[in-house]
Amino acid sequence: MKGVILAGGTGSRLHPLTKIINKHLLPVGNIPMICHGVEKFRKAGIEDILLVIGKHSAGLFTELLGSGKEWGVRLTYKIQEEAGGIAQALSLAEPLMKPGERFVVLLGDNLFEDSLTPYVQAFVKQTEGARVLLKKVHDPTRYGVPILLDDKIDSIEEKPAVPKSEYCVTGIYMYDSGVFDVVRSIKPSGRGELEITDVNNVYASKGQLTYDILDGWWTDAGTFQSLYQASGRQLEGECR
Ligand code: DAU
Repeated sequence: MKGVILAGGTGSRLHPLTKIINKHLLPVGNIPMICHGVEKFRKAGIEDILLVIGKHSAGLFTELLGSGKEWGVRLTYKIQEEAGGIAQALSLAEPLMKPGERFVVLLGDNLFEDSLTPYVQAFVKQTEGARVLLKKVHDPTRYGVPILLDDKIDSIEEKPAVPKSEYCVTGIYMYDSGVFDVVRSIKPSGRGELEITDVNNVYASKGQLTYDILDGWWTDAGTFQSLYQASGRQLEGECR
């Protein structure tokens, strides 16, 4: 199985830091943020990894990570020209996938404790559709919030004012090869982006969106407060 890390976007909530460097190269504890996702994939035996990056700081990513050889992974890079949304960044992975191939996607600013291995194994057993990982959070209004229906997700609301559950859909997603057709079928949101929640809702409407709940800590690092909190965690990823 291949892995995709989405590390484009503008990182506007971290200005002015992200005016000089891409968010995913900022330090979290003692490592650059991007190293965390690469290491999580490597430890789960996912060695073919696509990094979707923006034009800003593109050279710094290759300077830091190179081909991935030093780490025992194989890295491919794709440039997302503009921050057209998470689903648009994801669509850049299509040429790299074999027909019928399934894969795992991480948002580059998501940091977490759990091993990906059991979740990927559960997805391998799933015959079709998509799988997402959830976490109970105290501030669901900041995230995609799922409405749960036994072992499936009924639907997801993106940043709802009144959340219908205490869970957040984390930026850890697993898709079958149909996802690229789903991305083509959705329209840009009010903020002009192709939203990953719209993609996931297509799977949910077909009864094909399953989930697991993360056991360990999880955070994104997209705001100063969450970046600061993440820096206090024990993070994996040597990057040396
Ligand atoms: O962290 C989990 C949340 O991530 C989910 O609960 C939400 O449903 C999902 O929409 C997303 O929300 P955010 O508002 O946090 O997304 P953000 O725009 O901060 O982007 C998160 C990552 O996605 C970022 O680290 C890089 C990548 N990205 C984002 C955009 C907009 C791209 O690669 N390209 C893009 O154009």
